[in-house]
Amino acid sequence: MTRVAIVGCGDMGTKHAAAWSVREGIEIAAVCDLDPDRRRSLSQAYGAAQYEAYADAVRHEGVDVVSVCTPAKFHCEVAIHAASAGRHVLCEKPMALSLEEADRMIAAAEANGVALAICHQYRGASQYVTLKSLADEGVFGSPIYLRFSEMREVRPKLAMHERSLSGGPIHDMAGHLFDLMRFLTQSEAESVVATGTVFGSDKARLASIGAFGTDTAEIQARFAGGHCLSIGISWGLPEGTPGHSSETILGPNGMAFVEDPSTPDRNLGARSDTTRVVVKNAGGTRVIACREGPDGPDICIANLLHSIETGRANPFEGRQGRKALELILASRASMESGRIVRLNHENVGASKVAPPM
Ligand SMILES: NC(=O)c1ccc[n+]([C@@H]2O[C@H](COP(=O)([O-])OP(=O)(O)OC[C@H]3O[C@@H](n4cnc5c(N)ncnc54)[C@H](O)[C@@H]3O)[C@@H](O)[C@H]2O)c1
Repeated sequence: MTRVAIVGCGDMGTKHAAAWSVREGIEIAAVCDLDPDRRRSLSQAYGAAQYEAYADAVRHEGVDVVSVCTPAKFHCEVAIHAASAGRHVLCEKPMALSLEEADRMIAAAEANGVALAICHQYRGASQYVTLKSLADEGVFGSPIYLRFSEMREVRPKLAMHERSLSGGPIHDMAGHLFDLMRFLTQSEAESVVATGTVFGSDKARLASIGAFGTDTAEIQARFAGGHCLSIGISWGLPEGTPGHSSETILGPNGMAFVEDPSTPDRNLGARSDTTRVVVKNAGGTRVIACREGPDGPDICIANLLHSIETGRANPFEGRQGRKALELILASRASMESGRIVRLNHENVGASKVAPPM
């Protein structure tokens, strides 16, 4: 039996609990939230012990794995506490607010011989696995150009806009897209340039925000091999505005995009039974259905458990989350300085990573 503690019982904590609980041999042993209603509700759903302090949930007898589902500000301290207690850690993205925090999380996991995984689940989602297969088959040629667009109303959660809690919407969201680009190209970013602004500060519901994180930005990154990434994000439109997202990949040989006729306002990363990849090249148009495969945190849970059981490298390991964080922070630095940020790591990290199961 593998016993799980969930720290943070909001939307993602609820999804983690559901994804863990459908697996055989898993028990949700403990849940924790500062909010008594949230922790009570998850505790009742799974018959788990409930705690206000994360240290108590982490140290609950027999816990093997801790799912960290709080705002990013707390990821580092909860993850280090869990690793130091000998618990494996599955931490929501973004990994942390700083590289120094990320390094301490990795060091704590290594020192205590436990796994640390970050939930950048897009690289295991079937629409993006399909894009990766097409790229590997040479359907697009090389280099590739990947363009993401995500335009949404201000987030329902205040923490998402508070810079000190989440880094802000761009910090929160862009990591998924950097991680996906690294997965699709198996290469590392050489430079990042970005501009950003804040739309949310005039919204009445966000009046209590102390320091707004950037909610609207254009980010461009050049990767080794000449691959180009363009990200346009706004999470600052007025409440009630239907969102719009798109992802397009192209190269010298052709292009593809993801669409979902039944959910035209879907979020990036979301998938339904009608999600499909549309491929276009000189031979015409073809459509590939993407209805199969794991989704959401289940992808990261499956890979974490498999890596613990078999010793196989986990594609969601902490070092991958750190790479995404490095690019998030490079984007923020570029926005602040108005300059291109050059990254000088060797182009080895992405290509070493096993594909998701
Ligand atoms: N992987 C994804 O696609 C994805 C999607 C959405 C959110 N997220 C990430 O998941 C994390 C949680 O987001 P969410 O949407 O569930 O937020 P949420 O606000 O719904 O839930 C967060 C919960 O954490 C609790 N909390 C805050 N500080 C705490 C502490 N110190 N100890 C215990 N509980 C604490 C809050 O009371 C709240 O219930 C964030 O890092 C977010 O970026 C990931």
